[in-house]
Amino acid sequence: MRHSAVLSVAVLTLSSLTAVAQSTPNTAKKPLQRYAPPPAAQTPPIHPNDKNPSSGTPPMGWNSWNFFAQRVTDQDIRNAADQLVASGMKDAGYIYVNIDDTWEGERDANGVLSSNSKFPDMKALADYVHSKGLKLGIYSSPGPKTCAGFEGSLDHEVQDAELYTSWGVDYLKYDLCSFRESVMATHAPDDKAAQMRMMIAAYEKMNKALKSTDRPIVYSLCQYGWDAVWEWGPNVGANLWRTTGDIQPNWQSIYSILNEQAGLARYAGPGHWNDPDMLEVGNGRLTLAENRTHFSMWAMLAAPLLAGNDLLNMTPEVRSILTNRDVIAIDQDRLGREAMRAYSEGEVDVWARHLSGGALAVAVVNAGSDRYSTHPFYLSLAKLGLHGPLKGKDLWTGKETTLTDHMTLELASHDILLVRIPAAK
Ligand code: GLA
Repeated sequence: MRHSAVLSVAVLTLSSLTAVAQSTPNTAKKPLQRYAPPPAAQTPPIHPNDKNPSSGTPPMGWNSWNFFAQRVTDQDIRNAADQLVASGMKDAGYIYVNIDDTWEGERDANGVLSSNSKFPDMKALADYVHSKGLKLGIYSSPGPKTCAGFEGSLDHEVQDAELYTSWGVDYLKYDLCSFRESVMATHAPDDKAAQMRMMIAAYEKMNKALKSTDRPIVYSLCQYGWDAVWEWGPNVGANLWRTTGDIQPNWQSIYSILNEQAGLARYAGPGHWNDPDMLEVGNGRLTLAENRTHFSMWAMLAAPLLAGNDLLNMTPEVRSILTNRDVIAIDQDRLGREAMRAYSEGEVDVWARHLSGGALAVAVVNAGSDRYSTHPFYLSLAKLGLHGPLKGKDLWTGKETTLTDHMTLELASHDILLVRIPAAK
């Protein structure tokens, strides 16, 4: 079978799932129309003023919030930069070192913002990060205050964009926070639609401010997925937009965010990505299986891969998960098509992603708390539009594997089978 045939059969079947399921009462509650692949014409273009070619694939790096939260300091950022290099993560593609909330100080009489005492010299910090071949990210809010109560950018958008540029910032996460109460709820208390228009205008305002500088700055929207941000994010210059509330380092949070992504595939593409939040790999009490599944599925979703762990004290197991080149290659695949959830059976979900050149990635996730050998899962290749046997690579064992229709799979609790199937010859 030729490459295109494999691809089109799979696409055909993903769409035909819709038809089958529409006449099947017990699956009728799913938002079936979302299984349709994105019509090319509706995929938003890379925004016209894109000066940011690196966002052609999902951004990769590290962000301070998930591990350090409000405690982050200049030294932590330098350590993170050092460790990205020393651990091999930089070589694997992790380039952005992002300072999240709590770096902000006060504005002077002219409105110029300073960093606070935890960050004595932002320009020197940016120079340090750049000297390692990495890029620096920063954080602000369209409201008067950030989520942690520090100074936001309201009425200072151009001034702040110029400040970031003067420091050498390469990435901005712009977090709604107090804009909601201080502006939206205050100016249009009973008019939700007007509130949403204000929010969109605020994101567009910072987009214009960033574009008015000469520096390419990745623009990351953080407003928790409200008002179908995936529909308008690209129009306000967003390279990525959060699709959910805050992730936590536990299975419930990760799995519920994963499920919220089903149906959003059509909105992502080169230069504009759905962001199911930063990685918790290596944080909390996640098991190795949970870390693997989290990382694999964020790669399947073409999510930004922003590690959020303590890089100085990373275990070899966590490091090898975060630097699995085969899994990273799925995330960074140049076709930029997100995975779709093809089907679920009981506590097992099967996702598939089209890759460039006609290759495919298939992920099987056991979301259950057990998987006894008396209850194997039977993989249906037919439901993926595929015919076995199919040779591929198991991306966690690194070994060749063969998928056959109705094969039995016994996955440990919260573990994943992730297989890349090359294009058929
Ligand atoms: C919000 C965001 C988080 C983080 C914090 C910082 O909760 O969603 O990712 O940036 O603010 O205060």
